[in-house]
Amino acid sequence: MTEAPISAELRELALATAREAGGLILRLRAEGVEVAGTKSSATDIVTLADEAAEAMVKERLLGARPDDGLVGEEGDDLRGTSGVVWIVDPIDGTVNYLYGLPHFAVSIAAEVDGEIVAGVVVAPALDLEYVATLGGGATCNGRPVRPRAAVPLAERLVATGFSYEQSARSRQAGYIAHLLPRVRDLRRLGSCALDLCGVASGSLDAYVEEGAHLWDHAAAGLVVLEAGGILEVARSPGGKRLLICAPRDGFAEFRDLVVEAGFVRGEGSTTDRPSGE
Ligand code: IPD
Ligand code: CA
Ligand code: CA
Repeated sequence: MTEAPISAELRELALATAREAGGLILRLRAEGVEVAGTKSSATDIVTLADEAAEAMVKERLLGARPDDGLVGEEGDDLRGTSGVVWIVDPIDGTVNYLYGLPHFAVSIAAEVDGEIVAGVVVAPALDLEYVATLGGGATCNGRPVRPRAAVPLAERLVATGFSYEQSARSRQAGYIAHLLPRVRDLRRLGSCALDLCGVASGSLDAYVEEGAHLWDHAAAGLVVLEAGGILEVARSPGGKRLLICAPRDGFAEFRDLVVEAGFVRGEGSTTDRPSGE
């Protein structure tokens, strides 16, 4: 497959916008981070910088392409008429951002007629820019990325994330209890988009998380696909979006472990737990 001209055009706009938003959130962080409100729970926070960055991204993208739609984590949901929809997480890793940890990123994806064709994940405090177009490959800071070669499950470094909701976290603790003794180790780095880019670029072997949202994985999922990995979007027993990601080679083995741990609705019935939600 080769890259369509529209994908390259959307990629360039996304990258310029994400760089600018990255600069903005770094500046705002230097001035001091303020929590503006909470969402699904008291620990699911939104800062003034999340809101300012989404507003800036929207202004840049729709300023350049006024007929496009845009879905953003901080509330934008515009359908548009062009067939192009932007999917935006202005800061993925807001808790890290609040605590002064560097693992956070601006994530922007462009969807054309229902398919993601361009994605950028820019982590300004880490100086990392992941970029992908459908059929055009994936890069980090301009160099092609690829996942690590498959090793036995017991040697795999697996990233995960936990829900902001306490009831879901208790259930997730059960899944993790099964996973932890069977892999090299776990990482909870705090940014779904960067976890996925980590699998794509070989700094992680795999990733699984219950409860992530479309804006967390839309851009990074394309980076994974183009790098030679698989991102499966399944459902958990609690009915939440479940992300399973690993290099193509060795994906099935990791998926089997995830099923065995009880993460996947309707599979691994001996470990399926009632949703409780
Ligand atoms: C969160 C991060 C985190 C993941 C959560 C996401 P936010 O996004 O990606 O790693 O575990 O599921 O909601 O709230 O920082 O944009
Ligand atoms: Ca996010
Ligand atoms: Ca966010």
